[in-house]
Amino acid sequence: MLLFVFWSLWILDVATASITVYGQIPMGVTSALSATATVAAAYNTTVLNPPEVPDPGPATSFTLSIPSANTSVTKLSIPIKGTFYGFSVEMSVITQLFGKNSSYVQVPLLNLLANIQERAGAVHVRIGGNTQEYAYYVPTLDEGRAISKEKADTQNPTETPAVIYTMDLFYLLSNISSFVNVKWYIGKFELFSIRVPFNDTSDFRLQIVEYSEAVLGDNLLGVQVGKSLIYIHSHRNSSYNPQAYADEFGELIAALAADSNVPVKNNLIGPSVSGTWTPEMVWDTGFISEYTTNLGALSVEHYPTDNCFPIYGIGSYHDPQTEFSDFLNHTSGIALCEPYLNSTAIAQAAGKPFLMFETNSASCGGFPGISDSFGGALWALDYGLQMAYSNFSGAMLHVGGQNVFYNPFTAPPTNVSKYYEWTVGAVYYSALISAEVFGKTNTSQIVDLLGNDANIYTPQYAVYENGALARVALFNYITDPSGASDYTATITVSGGNAPASVQVKYFLSDSVSTKTNITWAGQTLGTIHEVDGRFKGTLDVVTIACNTGANTCLVPVPAPAFALVFLAAAPDITTATFSTSTYTNAAGTATVPASVLATSNGMLGMDETLWSTSAGSTENAAHGQLSVDFGLVFRVVAVLLVLLSGH
Ligand SMILES: *[C@@H]1O[C@H](CO)[C@@H](O)[C@H](O)[C@H]1NC(C)=O
Ligand SMILES: *[C@@H]1O[C@H](CO)[C@@H](O)[C@H](O)[C@H]1NC(C)=O
Ligand SMILES: *[C@@H]1O[C@H](CO)[C@@H](O)[C@H](O)[C@H]1NC(C)=O
Ligand SMILES: *[C@@H]1O[C@H](CO)[C@@H](O)[C@H](O)[C@H]1NC(C)=O
Ligand SMILES: *[C@@H]1O[C@H](CO)[C@@H](O)[C@H](O)[C@H]1NC(C)=O
Ligand SMILES: *[C@@H]1O[C@H](CO)[C@@H](O)[C@H](O)[C@H]1NC(C)=O
Ligand SMILES: *[C@@H]1O[C@H](CO)[C@@H](O)[C@H](O)[C@H]1NC(C)=O
Ligand SMILES: *[C@@H]1O[C@H](CO)[C@@H](O)[C@H](O)[C@H]1NC(C)=O
Ligand SMILES: *[C@@H]1O[C@H](CO)[C@@H](O)[C@H](O)[C@H]1NC(C)=O
Ligand SMILES: *[C@@H]1O[C@H](CO)[C@@H](O)[C@H](O)[C@H]1NC(C)=O
Ligand SMILES: *[C@@H]1O[C@H](CO)[C@@H](O)[C@H](O)[C@H]1NC(C)=O
Ligand SMILES: *[C@@H]1O[C@H](CO)[C@@H](O)[C@H](O)[C@H]1NC(C)=O
Repeated sequence: MLLFVFWSLWILDVATASITVYGQIPMGVTSALSATATVAAAYNTTVLNPPEVPDPGPATSFTLSIPSANTSVTKLSIPIKGTFYGFSVEMSVITQLFGKNSSYVQVPLLNLLANIQERAGAVHVRIGGNTQEYAYYVPTLDEGRAISKEKADTQNPTETPAVIYTMDLFYLLSNISSFVNVKWYIGKFELFSIRVPFNDTSDFRLQIVEYSEAVLGDNLLGVQVGKSLIYIHSHRNSSYNPQAYADEFGELIAALAADSNVPVKNNLIGPSVSGTWTPEMVWDTGFISEYTTNLGALSVEHYPTDNCFPIYGIGSYHDPQTEFSDFLNHTSGIALCEPYLNSTAIAQAAGKPFLMFETNSASCGGFPGISDSFGGALWALDYGLQMAYSNFSGAMLHVGGQNVFYNPFTAPPTNVSKYYEWTVGAVYYSALISAEVFGKTNTSQIVDLLGNDANIYTPQYAVYENGALARVALFNYITDPSGASDYTATITVSGGNAPASVQVKYFLSDSVSTKTNITWAGQTLGTIHEVDGRFKGTLDVVTIACNTGANTCLVPVPAPAFALVFLAAAPDITTATFSTSTYTNAAGTATVPASVLATSNGMLGMDETLWSTSAGSTENAAHGQLSVDFGLVFRVVAVLLVLLSGH
């Protein structure tokens, strides 16, 4: 056995050495690369000033008396899954983010998704966005690509080059699902654009539905069918209204009903209204009752504000520094959810999940200094928890290309993928942490505690799992290095007893403004061009002794921070990661052939597979045990060496 371990370590060393070799940026290229690749919005280094410390500030010591059982709580949410926060991926960036085709899957993507799967049981991802609305199928593309952009097409009235895809797109998605438990939403499909040709209203382009159902099977969650502003403005006369949308939805259902290649007919998602129409305008057409057998979920899309002016000159200019404080208090999430409370109640009554299908900090790419900051991450987490409390069943953070500020993750542009690793935006942590807030049992219910006199800077939530108080979430939005705005929450369990101790995971950075040095339970994914999807550093879960006699647990929360308090032991997160960037660079693409991963026994069905919780660290700090399966390392590395020798 010992010999085996030595062998493994030796081979691991060889592989590690090759990181240096293949990861080197050739001399002379460095400055050119940084000049071209770091100016893009996704790597923007703007750091805003944190808002002033409020005066008067919130109380720095307050008590939360929280019922031990869900039966004593009013306004508790419906059951929420750990998959609550997913990602909405702009179709045009799939090649960069997912891989060129089904033979090549991006390893950092698998790791980033696996982190969430390990906490939530699965990950929900939507492919869609504006560039998808005019997407259409072609039998083949150059160089074996799964996706490409169409050349300018006079048939396309928006003159936006359409995304074109082959059957292999679905194999790519399916292959990703074979490594990590990813469930997919496809859409949105504009009713108009899926007709062939664009000016023909008699036929629908149903291939995308046919192929996704055929290839993805149970991994397809639903197909989003929507309208869009472009559609209304360019293709429809002014009488296009919610009733016209509902009627066309009906036409699509009829077309699907007649299509024997579409076996699943109850997974449509609509109306995805995002502004000009309220959801009520669509409900009032009888949409839900009329199409109830075909609707898998109801949906909306919404961004709190926009940053369109700098790019398109439309709307008005919003100064990021001025906007920043709007994201840094509890009012934001509440105000964003309030317009949908009627609809979430209507959805519940109809037995349909209600989804925020696309959101992020601001449309048109977000704001420099806000969208990618620690404060932006606190905001997104609070907003997500507020949506869950408001009885949304899921929300998807939008992911665009290099040219947006709000990405949870960004792949390097293909032409520099040999030299750079990925970049994670602070809101990735929001999705990851929300997965831990809700966990894997599908029974979590959340309530906004509104303690500390409902102070807007110190929101708190309680989460019940299987009916019992399981976790408490505590925010501090204030940045105050003096320590004067740190607070201590005293948790007391009403109708029960405080546990002997609680475990606390902190989400920390020095300021709401920072974009680097962000840690979750002591670990970080790294900063710009440093991310391979694995956590770095030693896991730090803080154990706090409670006073069982007094029924109190005192939890300190620095300014700024988020703290997740586990009343029972925090679950052991042992993410099976896909290793690593090494061979991707060796292969000359930031990818690993799927076939290699597929045949590397142990990489499939990763459930509970032990692997390092952090790159370069084999210690699982919470339990002090070695968590690397050396046999697994050996198998992977062996496959890897075979692969390297082939190049
Ligand atoms: C960040 O983006 C803003 C807005 O596009 C731009 O004005 C600024 O120069 C960029 N800053 C850096 C450091 O990239
Ligand atoms: C969420 O749904 C539950 C169960 O129907 C209800 O009691 C609660 O009031 C709803 N929450 C909100 C914020 O509307
Ligand atoms: C993926 O691309 C590679 C390289 O261009 C090509 O050799 C391979 O056949 C493609 N795979 C598929 C499934 O099309
Ligand atoms: C990946 O997709 C290809 C189709 O291009 C298929 O042959 C292969 O079996 C898939 N691999 C996995 C692991 O699903
Ligand atoms: C659609 O447009 C094409 C090309 O402009 C034209 O030839 C065709 O007649 C149009 N079809 C309809 C139904 O209007
Ligand atoms: C406007 O479009 C609707 C369908 O959305 C159609 O029924 C109506 O006839 C059109 N009106 C005109 C004036 O073209
Ligand atoms: C909720 O929506 C329904 C359906 O549109 C509408 O009839 C009702 O007036 C709305 N209720 C509130 C309180 O907005
Ligand atoms: C809190 O956020 C709301 C909504 O984003 C904003 O309108 C308000 O001005 C903010 N309050 C403070 C004190 O910054
Ligand atoms: C990568 O591609 C971009 C866009 O085409 C270009 O501006 C940049 O110079 C390229 N970088 C390198 C190192 O080739
Ligand atoms: C949670 O729900 C998902 C389906 O959304 C299901 O696959 C999973 O098995 C459920 N987990 C538990 C613990 O019941
Ligand atoms: C309390 O939790 C249990 C178990 O998850 C659930 O069955 C029950 O419906 C919940 N009760 C309320 C009032 O939410
Ligand atoms: C990183 O953050 C930690 C606490 O969040 C702080 O102690 C440390 O000084 C920071 N490091 C840098 C380099 O800013």
